[in-house]
Amino acid sequence: MVLVIHTEKLTKDYGTNRALSEVELEVREGEVFGYLGPNGAGKSTTIRILLDFIRPTSGSANVFGLDSRADSEEIRRRTAYLPGDVVMYDRMTGAEVLTYFANLSGGVDQRYVAQLAERLRCDLTQPIKSLSRGNRQKIGLVQAFMHRSELIIMDEPSSGLDPLMQQEFYSLVEEVKSEGRTVFISSHIMPEVERVCDRVGIIRQGKLVTVEDIEVLKGRALHRLEFHFSEPVPREGFVDLPGVRDVTVEDTVVSCTVMGKPDALIKAAARFEVVKLVAHESSLEDVFLSYYGDGETDA
Ligand SMILES: Nc1ncnc2c1ncn2[C@@H]1O[C@H](COP(=O)(O)OP(=O)(O)O)[C@@H](O)[C@H]1O
Ligand SMILES: [Mg+2]
Repeated sequence: MVLVIHTEKLTKDYGTNRALSEVELEVREGEVFGYLGPNGAGKSTTIRILLDFIRPTSGSANVFGLDSRADSEEIRRRTAYLPGDVVMYDRMTGAEVLTYFANLSGGVDQRYVAQLAERLRCDLTQPIKSLSRGNRQKIGLVQAFMHRSELIIMDEPSSGLDPLMQQEFYSLVEEVKSEGRTVFISSHIMPEVERVCDRVGIIRQGKLVTVEDIEVLKGRALHRLEFHFSEPVPREGFVDLPGVRDVTVEDTVVSCTVMGKPDALIKAAARFEVVKLVAHESSLEDVFLSYYGDGETDA
């Protein structure tokens, strides 16, 4: 198993603020790795260290087995990067920006660039500064994919994208993976990584708290479900079901929390006439809670 990214005891202080604390990351060749954590957790700091935009306080980071500090030039040449805050040359058009980046890297396949721009419905003719955040993000994505790099690092890539473009983005990631290339995606929202990632590392307050296969993580995710029935239903039918908790029954409405498979609950509900079903996707915070229990407090 080849490790494309490998950090050891990676630590970064900003003054007295410890942004990263002894992070040990291992990203395997050919996988799509999600780096999940709330705002301020240390995701962008990690990524900036990998690309040597900032230096670690202690510990080390390797990319392709190369040292992030000593071999940063080669690492950057072989890695595509989409920053979290896409700052681009505002007066240039999308086409000009892409040409600029293509020339920097010694040229890219122009047909592939055109394909990407079309799939993401990019307007390449307008100055960047006149574009909305989402449209700017799409040009950033074309830039990240167009080099066909062996490693693509994207910092919160689908923020600002509409749902249709998000689907297109997921397809692009899947294509990269099918070619055996490696993708590293940071995000603060579970659904963004759930769709495409093979494994997920959860970072919180600078500490990598867990790394799991996405299937395991999904199994632990909590969903809040609310069934509306055509007539009042008995409470007994809904308590003591596997994976179901916090059940409240009020007249015709049953609310509860489900961890993992909702199968038993759905079958219990199906005995009555369901007129409406409301499901709330589990937030990242809920996933954390399912790991650590409600009593978890921060050190
Ligand atoms: N340039 C900086 N100077 C001082 N503190 C910073 C700087 N960049 C980030 N931080 C702090 O480091 C922590 C991690 O930030 P960041 O890596 O941007 O988190 P994330 O990308 O997960 O939202 C936060 O507490 C943030 O305020
Ligand atoms: Mg960030």
